[in-house]
Amino acid sequence: MKGDSLQQSRARHVAIIMDGNGRWAKQRGLPRAVGHQRGVEAVRRLVRSLEPTGLECLTLYAFSSENWKRPDEEVDDLMNLMRRFIKSDLEEFVANKVRLKIIGDWRALAPDIVAMLEDALARTAEGKRTLAVALNYGGQHEIARAAAKAAAEGDVTIETIAAHLDTADLPPLDLLIRTSGEIRLSNFLLWQAAYAEMLFVETLWPDFEPAHLAQALDDFARRERRYGGR
Ligand code: IPE
Ligand code: IPE
Ligand code: MG
Repeated sequence: MKGDSLQQSRARHVAIIMDGNGRWAKQRGLPRAVGHQRGVEAVRRLVRSLEPTGLECLTLYAFSSENWKRPDEEVDDLMNLMRRFIKSDLEEFVANKVRLKIIGDWRALAPDIVAMLEDALARTAEGKRTLAVALNYGGQHEIARAAAKAAAEGDVTIETIAAHLDTADLPPLDLLIRTSGEIRLSNFLLWQAAYAEMLFVETLWPDFEPAHLAQALDDFARRERRYGGR
């Protein structure tokens, strides 16, 4: 869009670093697991409200390749929440025409989770809006994997690397949101964020409502993207 234009632009692809579950629980004197549970509920609310946003894709950072450093008990809680979420919400995804996509090294997760995800991917393949979930995801590793594939094909360019990223079939990233007041990327969508707009909000993830996303999309529509031009 030209610099002098007031034209509003609509986001096609938003990604969210869902942060702050632990602090949400701590503020209430509750176990971290409760914060993660409430975080899942925030995901459910958001996915249910996707249609009117007009978004083609929502990408959620659910578990980073660095999150294995957390205590085993917390990692187990997160994996069990994942199992429960797929079981409880898959039918609703199918009914609401949500296409599930997973990015990251998800095939290295526990075999039963991999099997559940494969089934969920197959059953939602015809969906119209994409919910991309980043599981065991790290941006640097994603780029390294894509570059290695491009090299094996004998042609390393921006285009060939991009074509091998996990997100190759998704629209360009328009807006990256991080909740909980932290201002860093934590290894999320490093390549894709090159010209994405960014929004850092104080809201802790379990408190994130569809209205917050609507507000973010409104904010995005007013931004002027230049891509280095003028
Ligand atoms: C985000 O909440 C959830 C995951 C990283 C899986 P945190 O667990 O990081 O919450 P804080 O940052 O400790 O508050
Ligand atoms: C990023 O949050 C990962 C996810 C939200 C899944 P973290 O809480 O793990 O990030 P750091 O450790 O604060 O950078
Ligand atoms: Mg955190």
